[in-house]
Amino acid sequence: MQKTLKSHGTWIGKWTFVLAATGSAVGLGNIWGFPYKAGTEGGAAFVLIYLLCIIIIGIPIMISEILIGRRSGNSPINSMKKSAIDSNRSSSWQLVGWIGISAGVLILSFYSVIAGICLNYIFIAASSSGEISASEQFASVIQSPISLMIWHTVFMFLTFLIVSAGVKDGIGRMVKILMPMLGLLLIFMVLYGIVKGDFSKALLFLFTPDFSNIGTNTFLSAMGQAFFSLSLGMGSIMAYGAYMPKDQEIVSTSFSVGSLDTLVAIMAGLAIFPIIFAFNLEPGSGPGLVFISLLSAFNQMEFGQLIGAIFFILLSVAALSSSISILEPGVAFISEERIASRTSSALIISFLCWVVGIGTVFSFNIWSDYYPLPDKNFQETIELISVQILQPLGGMLIAIFVGWFMNESIIKSELGDLNPVFYKLWRFFIRYIAPSSVAFIFISQLL
Ligand code: TRP
Repeated sequence: MQKTLKSHGTWIGKWTFVLAATGSAVGLGNIWGFPYKAGTEGGAAFVLIYLLCIIIIGIPIMISEILIGRRSGNSPINSMKKSAIDSNRSSSWQLVGWIGISAGVLILSFYSVIAGICLNYIFIAASSSGEISASEQFASVIQSPISLMIWHTVFMFLTFLIVSAGVKDGIGRMVKILMPMLGLLLIFMVLYGIVKGDFSKALLFLFTPDFSNIGTNTFLSAMGQAFFSLSLGMGSIMAYGAYMPKDQEIVSTSFSVGSLDTLVAIMAGLAIFPIIFAFNLEPGSGPGLVFISLLSAFNQMEFGQLIGAIFFILLSVAALSSSISILEPGVAFISEERIASRTSSALIISFLCWVVGIGTVFSFNIWSDYYPLPDKNFQETIELISVQILQPLGGMLIAIFVGWFMNESIIKSELGDLNPVFYKLWRFFIRYIAPSSVAFIFISQLL
């Protein structure tokens, strides 16, 4: 007999899905990752390639994830299984869900450590008087395993609390508070950049492409960034899609989420670079851009302590609305299988992420000389396995499943009465363009 799976409920109203999925998409990837990559990869040309990747790969895969999730209403493992069986395909397609949940544990393990540093920086920025330089400050933060551990634990605990409260009362309710807050803080930071920073130089930097320095690496980096930023390939969006009301339009909703995510990434650039340029700092300083360059700017400016604290609150809020979506697929699976209650399921997965995260904490200090793979420390190894291997693999398999194996009648019934031209375009992208481009990133990264 087919066992019945526990249901997790549905979002209330159409906006909750948009807020939750945008909350998932908008995170460290947009506010920390996108600006520093645009900075190191040559500015506007990177931005343009990034936009292209969002449109031709990102949104088509997002549509696919939502449609699989909504059709089945369960965790990614069971949604993949059900969709495969309904299309008379092997139930081993559920492997995609397993890949996603494993990737999620690994991603969240280091995401939480970086998000913990952001939380810590709220207080550092609020009290920083510039007595020690921003780079010494950053070095002292990452050299202390105890303080990194404390903040990693705090962040993981907050994520656990929200997810354990459930889809409607936890995630649904929190994104309605977190997302408007994020929007206001970001608008404030951009306005600040317009008034006090070198805004025109930032505009020039982000929007005047110079293709002379573009290589394969720029493409790889832009495509990887688009994938990570839209939370694709590991089931975050599929799990959220499972809670989407049946009468909501999938395609236009995916465009809204994709556009909001891109808008936030660009606004983050417009908040950060005017300040960087006004203080003659390097836009291409890499991952330390917000923790070192930006802090040193905050140290030098009027009301810098306040503005700095606001910026790091913004970053932490964005990270929290993403981390809950990384935890949700695994929690949904354990609780719908009735292996454990939602709270215990959330505790189990959070604990796993927390334990693996300790390795990332150590990779900045006591394990800084430990390289599990040649040239990769512990954190970089975990990131390689999850973000560069499992996540694109999951995305590619989702595209192949929907493009080549799922019944078209099921797809059409989920997509509703979509304009036939749009449908044909999407179908073409999902069958050919998305899988082959992801395969391309994948293979070149392995080489
Ligand atoms: N997209 C988020 C960011 O930009 C992070 C994130 C959430 C994510 N869910 C994900 C990344 C799933 C990969 C896979 O920070």
